Amino acid sequence: MSHIAVVGAGYVGLTTAACLADLGNEVCVIDIDEAKIRALRRHRLHFYEPGLQEVVKRNGMAGRLNFTTVYSEAVAGAGIAFIAVATPEGEGGEANLDHVRSAAASIAEHLTGPIVIVNKSTVPIGTGDFVSEVFQKHQPHFRVDVVSNPEFLREGSALHDFMKPDRVVIGANNEAAADQVAKLYEPLNAPILRYNLYTAEMVKYASNAFLAARISFINEISRICERVDADAKRVAEGMGLDKRIGPHFLEAGIGYGGSCFPKDVKALAAIAERFNYHPELLHAVMAINRDQRTLAVEKLRECLGTLRGQSIGLFGLAFKPNTDDMREAPSLEIAKLLLAKGAKVCGYDPAAGERAKALLPELDVRRDAYAVARDADAVVVVTEWNEFRQLDLAKLKRAMRRPVVVDGRNIYDPAQMRRLGFVYRGIGRN
Ligand SMILES: NC(=O)c1ccc[n+]([C@@H]2O[C@H](COP(=O)([O-])OP(=O)(O)OC[C@H]3O[C@@H](n4cnc5c(N)ncnc54)[C@H](O)[C@@H]3O)[C@@H](O)[C@H]2O)c1
Repeated sequence: MSHIAVVGAGYVGLTTAACLADLGNEVCVIDIDEAKIRALRRHRLHFYEPGLQEVVKRNGMAGRLNFTTVYSEAVAGAGIAFIAVATPEGEGGEANLDHVRSAAASIAEHLTGPIVIVNKSTVPIGTGDFVSEVFQKHQPHFRVDVVSNPEFLREGSALHDFMKPDRVVIGANNEAAADQVAKLYEPLNAPILRYNLYTAEMVKYASNAFLAARISFINEISRICERVDADAKRVAEGMGLDKRIGPHFLEAGIGYGGSCFPKDVKALAAIAERFNYHPELLHAVMAINRDQRTLAVEKLRECLGTLRGQSIGLFGLAFKPNTDDMREAPSLEIAKLLLAKGAKVCGYDPAAGERAKALLPELDVRRDAYAVARDADAVVVVTEWNEFRQLDLAKLKRAMRRPVVVDGRNIYDPAQMRRLGFVYRGIGRN
């Protein structure tokens, strides 16, 4: 059993803390947001992540998982501290490390003995050195080793991804420190890859950039499919069964969003430019993704003529299904474009309605998909929640003023939609 501090009670920090506690460790989570910590002490989460609340509760009740806003409580006696704070887009596209710096400085000020600091946040190459320097400055007395341990979990399946990872990446320049972190992951029986610090930091950016590139690739193919009358969904299926290619991240649609891909691709491109390399492919990935965002609006205009005065409904608001995360959600951009063109916009999301409303008060958030379809001139499938696949489509059509569906995630069958009398537009399938 290790005594562990986890800094940051967000998607990554809380999942890490709850899972490490579930593996039998004693974990204390520290966050500067008092409201979040107050709620967590009552085993309530400030975000939606399937199954996480139960794990938090189970380990909280067993006394293995504690929450605090006081650094001295979290750090005292901890042999390992994970830093899992946000690293948002900063100036020039590079990651902003203010939260990382502040977390490291706060840990340093409250150290009572040697410690291993584990960077779980996605950080630019060299951040391990940067964190070491912060410790040198604030606490030169105790030995501090910095380890990189990038996280690959996906929101919506965070518990599964943490407990059954494809691999665990540990980067360190000190073997003993790497051993300590590797030991925490041994019960997961996953391959543990040990690299130096820079390589581990790079694995995370390269992985996210590659996944984003696959999405932009299939979106580019979908643009070509529309022109030559091929079906991008079938093309992806035909490609994906090739073992060298694989089926994942090959869904044409309105592009990637969320708290990771947009900022991480941009950050990697900025790092490359700083080191005098122009990353042609990364720039193309971003440009294609930007264009996909406006595609839904173009398709609506094609179907409706003008957008002014039209009622448009959005199915799904979160950046992807099974989360309430609205960071870089395509829904916000689409809604803003439509509002700017004089349309009225309403929407529904099984989990993110409140968050969406807080970010865009002009958005009329409704209680379900049928309420969104009521008197709508068109609906757009923005987020592919399963419940939208199960809708009674005939009922949906009856509710709408005009039966226009722009399926930004290709969840419906074009032939069936046309049979039902919809004017249907998918992505890359005419
Ligand atoms: N969300 C994901 O799916 C995901 C997946 C893999 C990696 N990551 C990376 O993990 C990191 C964290 O992402 P997230 O989505 O969990 O972020 P988040 O915004 O959900 O959580 C960050 C938390 O850190 C807290 N915090 C900020 N400064 C602090 C400080 N000085 N001391 C204590 N707490 C502080 C915030 O209050 C917040 O609760 C990012 O670098 C992100 O890129 C995220």
